[in-house]
Amino acid sequence: MGLQELYYLACINCGSKYSPREIIYRCHKCGDLLSVEYEKELMNPEIALKWGARSLSVWRYIELLPINNRGKIVSLGEGGTSLNRCDRLGSHLGLKEVYVKNEGENPTGSFKDRGMTVGVTKAIEMGMKRVACASTGNTSASLAAYAARASMECIVLIPSGKVALGKLVQSMIYGAKVIQVKGNFDDALRMVEGICSSKPIYLLNSINPYRLEGQKTIAFEIWDQLGGKVPDKVIVPVGNAGNISAIWKGFRELHAMGLTDKLPKMIGIQAEGAAPIVNMIKMGLNDIKFVEKPETIATAIRIGSPVNWKKAVKSIKESGGVAETVSDEEILFAQRLLAKMEGIFVEPASAAAIAGLIKLARNGLIEPDDLVVCIATGHGLKDPNIVLKQFKKPVEIEADLSALIKILST
Ligand code: F0G
Repeated sequence: MGLQELYYLACINCGSKYSPREIIYRCHKCGDLLSVEYEKELMNPEIALKWGARSLSVWRYIELLPINNRGKIVSLGEGGTSLNRCDRLGSHLGLKEVYVKNEGENPTGSFKDRGMTVGVTKAIEMGMKRVACASTGNTSASLAAYAARASMECIVLIPSGKVALGKLVQSMIYGAKVIQVKGNFDDALRMVEGICSSKPIYLLNSINPYRLEGQKTIAFEIWDQLGGKVPDKVIVPVGNAGNISAIWKGFRELHAMGLTDKLPKMIGIQAEGAAPIVNMIKMGLNDIKFVEKPETIATAIRIGSPVNWKKAVKSIKESGGVAETVSDEEILFAQRLLAKMEGIFVEPASAAAIAGLIKLARNGLIEPDDLVVCIATGHGLKDPNIVLKQFKKPVEIEADLSALIKILST
């Protein structure tokens, strides 16, 4: 029996089931999101015995990834990122155990590579020749790289003038067709969903449930790196809301397999100017109110209509977690603090998780004894301009030793 028989797609609302051979992004009956589900026989702790012999990476967990042809995986060596214990930052905040999972170490510098290795492999299995996405920059950089690796044509739609320089450059060098949309990310996503439903182009935004399967390996790796423990709290920056849902799914699967009897609380952080999910949770609403004109310097999470909002709200509520906003000033402060105290340089969206940690520790929502993991989603070099704006030009001296001695003595 092939792996194809061991998983299927299910609607998160009405439960309708779909064959994994069908190209489908939303439930035909109710239009809601889909999720990859595995047959019970895979929810078995013995599966994990195979993992230990493989190196830490997305594909260490292949038994729980929805791929049929193991010989045709499109990979650049994604996953296996470090989980850094941050004692200086922790003691500064009065916390005993703070870790940062540095997803900037992925091949294109963000966690998106975990999703794209699975998503682009799936595109090939489905016989597709073209792939597309809307993006605030990282999804497009990642898709462009994996499409190049797989010799596929790649189309990316980005909000005009609102993508960090490093990310834009990545999509261009990998050979994607880069289209700037005079609108925001939400407009671009609407357009790309439209084109992918009418032409044979495979959609690789996080509405695609296969992509999220790759991203759930963040949870598996954390569990592995903590020696089979799960954290008390996991703090995740939220934009289109796929990643927090994927990580929660990963922990739930470890639980269903009997590999942990505990689950972490999921904490979602959004920027003040782009916080529809936090607003909904804090105000106790049953429905989401999208933000029409999202604004934040953390351009990666400058999103007003997160497509995965239902999955994300469920993850936060089911886990007993919370949602919080942080200001642009708090984000920039946290970005510098993490770099200076721990040597980890993250982009502003990732610094939102650290800013959230600081705020929640002050408000007492994180206990001193909690084991907390912050997900640093993308590398700081993606957005150098934001840093340059905050610093004066470095001092310049004549090329002689006496000038150097003089400057160092002042
Ligand atoms: N952090 C970074 C660095 C991101 O690039 C994103 C999303 C997020 C956090 C939020 O993740 O959307 O799953 O809630 N970036 C997308 C993109 C939207 O197009 O690159 P999410």
